[in-house]
Amino acid sequence: RQRRFAGLNPATKCPLSSGHFCFRDLQHGTIGVDRLSSAANFIDRGDRQRMSSDKKLNAATASLEFIEAGVTLGVGTGSTVNCLIELLPSVRDRIDAVVSSSIDTTRRLEEQGFEVSTLNETGGRVDPYIDGADESNKRLQLIKGGGGALTREKVIAGAARRFVCIADDSKLVGMLGTFPLPIEVVPMAKEFVARRLLKLRAQPVW
Ligand code: A5P
Repeated sequence: RQRRFAGLNPATKCPLSSGHFCFRDLQHGTIGVDRLSSAANFIDRGDRQRMSSDKKLNAATASLEFIEAGVTLGVGTGSTVNCLIELLPSVRDRIDAVVSSSIDTTRRLEEQGFEVSTLNETGGRVDPYIDGADESNKRLQLIKGGGGALTREKVIAGAARRFVCIADDSKLVGMLGTFPLPIEVVPMAKEFVARRLLKLRAQPVW
């Protein structure tokens, strides 16, 4: 299901309704896909970088509507989520507690004045969990974990009632798996896991 967002991005002043879409994920939540880059072929590298961060900011801004009064917010990891963290003070009064998926995210949340709770402290409750993605195909199947924040983000995603995935159109690929994906392995299981991966026709490297 496709939804169109209206209003201005508070940071970039871009009209969200002019090019910002949010697609509802098949199972869990949503992915924000921004289409403001039609002029991308005609701009220099500096402009391209600015546009890239504007697109991340637009995707992050779209997720604010999922932060309703009294939420226990799960916060993912990565540059798109970092844009969201910058925006969180504007909805601080709606947030009861925040749970973080990584050390870097915890540091950024604390810099914004949030006290970060553990999953134990929230009684295992998270709703929504907002995180980025590394790749998406048109069916909204995702690759995540490229940033290496694997275990905690999977635990929080598993606990979350809703998972809102934010990404811009640079993440869209024809076929998933364009880069080697980190896998977090308990050290004693390294060779066992490697053999299983070989059976799946993957090529484990460490
Ligand atoms: C974290 O391990 C990943 O799953 C991130 O969600 C992913 O790397 C997205 O990061 P960017 O927003 O920086 O692309």
